[in-house]
This record gives sequence, C-alpha cells and structure tokens, in this order.
Amino acid sequence: MKRVLIVTGGGDCPGLNAVIRAIVKRASQEKNWEVLGSIQAFNGILWEPTEVKILTPELVKGIHFQGGTIIETTNKGGPFAWPVKNQDGSWSTVDRSDEMIRKIQYLGIDAVINIGGDGSQRISQALFEKGLPIIGVPKTIDNDLSSTDSTFGFQTAVEVATEAVDKLVTTAASHNRVFVVEVMGRYAGWIALNAAVAGGAEVCLIPEFPYDIHIIQQKLESRFVRDRGFAVVVAAEGAYPKGGEMVFETSDEIGYKNLKLGGIGRSLIKQLKEVGFEHDMRETVLGHLQRGGIPIAYDRVLSAQFGVKAFEMVLKKEYGKMVSYRHPHFVSVPLKEAIVQPNLVTLDNALVKTALGLGISLGIDISSSLNA
Ligand code: F6P
Repeated sequence: MKRVLIVTGGGDCPGLNAVIRAIVKRASQEKNWEVLGSIQAFNGILWEPTEVKILTPELVKGIHFQGGTIIETTNKGGPFAWPVKNQDGSWSTVDRSDEMIRKIQYLGIDAVINIGGDGSQRISQALFEKGLPIIGVPKTIDNDLSSTDSTFGFQTAVEVATEAVDKLVTTAASHNRVFVVEVMGRYAGWIALNAAVAGGAEVCLIPEFPYDIHIIQQKLESRFVRDRGFAVVVAAEGAYPKGGEMVFETSDEIGYKNLKLGGIGRSLIKQLKEVGFEHDMRETVLGHLQRGGIPIAYDRVLSAQFGVKAFEMVLKKEYGKMVSYRHPHFVSVPLKEAIVQPNLVTLDNALVKTALGLGISLGIDISSSLNA
C-alpha cells in the first residue's frame, strides 16, 4: 500500500475540504493508495503521539461544501520554526525539519500534498530541497500567489464582500452617509478591487497604492449636494496613506509572525474628519466572515480540479511542483517559481483600468507615479 499525506497550512479558506475530498476520491480509483491527513498542518506529524487521520472516501463524503478544513490548520510555528519555551519563560524556535522528514519516512509516506498559501509553499520548497517528495496546492483568499490564474476561496471572499457592499449601499443611501467597508487583503488588494467594481463603490483603497486623503475627500464631497448624498468606500485591511503605515497590532500568540491587521476603516474616518469632511460616516469590518463558511460553486469546482490534478502529479512523481490553473489548463509549475514574487495589483492591470473607467477613485493621483 502506498501512502500520500495531506497537510492544510496557513489561514483557512473556503474550498479546502473540497480539495481534500477530490484527492481522496481520485486516490481511491488507484486501489493501492491510502490517504492520510496530518492534523493542524505539520503539527500532527511533529507531535508525540502523532496525530494523523486516515482519510477514507467514507470520511470525506459530502464535505465539498463545508467551510474550514476537517484536518485543521495553523498559521503558527511549523517544522523550521517550532516554538519552544525556555527556562526563563521566554520563547524561541528550533528547526525540526530533519526529524519531521524522518518521521514521515518512518510512517511509510510516499508523497506529501501541502495545501497552503505563500508561507506554506515556502515550507514545501524548503522541505523539497531536503529531499521530501512534496507537491503544493495553492490556497489563498487574498489571491496573492503568482504562477496561477486563480486560487480557490478568493471568489467566495469576493462574494461575501460584494454582498456587504450591496447591503451597505441601501443603508448609506437612506441615511446620507459614507460607509467604509474593511475587507481582507494584507498585501494584495484583489478582494477590495473586485468587490468595489462588483458592488459599485465610489472609492477603493488597496495596499499596493498608498492613498492621498485629500483625493478621497474630494471624491466623497462630489457625491453630496449640500448634506444629501452617500458613498461606499471599500478598503483592504492593508491599505495605508502615502507616507504612513498600515493599521495593525502586534500579536502575543506564540509562534504567530504576522502583524494583526485591522482598523483601517476607523482610521480613515478619523483622517477624513481631520481634513474637514463633515458628512456622517460609519465603518463595517468583515474580517473572518470572508474566510469561513460555504465555498461558492466556482471555488468548489476549482478545488475539485486542483485536488484531482494534485493526486495525478503524485502518480507522475512531479515533486517540488505546485498545481497551477492556466486557463483552460491545469498544469504544474516549480514551487521555486511560484514563491518568487507575490501576485499584486499593478496600475496596468485590466481591472484597475475598468475601475478607473467606472469612476472609482483609488485614492491616488493617477497622473503621477505611484512611488513619487
Ligand atoms: O492571508 C489571508 C488573510 O486572510 C489576510 O488577508 C489576513 O490578514 C490574515 O489572513 C488574517 O489571518 P489570521 O487572523 O488567521 O491570522
């Protein structure tokens, strides 16, 4: 019997279970393959006792529309930076990757499929370089992974954000207010940009284009005749003003390296008041609502395609590679290439042009250079 191990790492994402199910279903057609799932990314392998689940077709029945991941996930620690408590109570990290690879071999595992975002795929590449037969499946609601046309979970997040814009437009119009909707997007503004275009927002702020508060103020003022009018601003959590910085908290969670973003909505309202904008303003933070719950059909289909392709890559021993969607094909690309640079919004992007064509302000002077 051959064994493939599935790992889900990083933030959860609608469609993870659909990928797991697709791998299991495809593997079950091969007769001599067993599928295992490590609990909480690689932690299940590193823990003593080991926590690994046998993923049978019976167990994954009907999970394609369930949010989250049945094998859990984590965005802390990992095999290369395992947190350990020192005698003085402080924490440091140790590299347990060699020990983990030995354990994977000891468990008779022939291949690993790591479903995760850029952080997870960096781990995949590093483990591959150490000899682990590993394949990546791209996952991110932020759509910030390059080397693939899309990642599952992203369209579901856009749907949630758009639905929020649709709802807030009606209350904004009724009360003659400005609403700021804060959506996810740490370094990449794809969710914000798509939701702004789909929802008909007036302003869209993204991390790639540091904004000028006066340009936003001007756009919002133009939406009011005396005190009548309304507007919706979609702001990615990572958006920040020119010369300023993102709104964040540092985390006290052990092994959590990210900054905890959040608060751009409130901060923007404060900045608008400071420059003299006098209309009523409210903010709504969507947060993890964009990540939890049922994946939309598009993401389920993409997940199923990624899962089947990933297992077929295992059969062909295409290790050190990541599944990639290159319309209309599913191909494999070297992990090394996929992690070189993130997929960020650029000024020449077609959707940026569409947004500008619709009169959506990006909070920047589009005639000047972005870095000026
Ligand atoms: O990377 C995806 C993402 O959704 C980011 O947009 C967000 O900043 C982050 O995850 C938050 O994740 P968590 O709260 O789980 O650390």
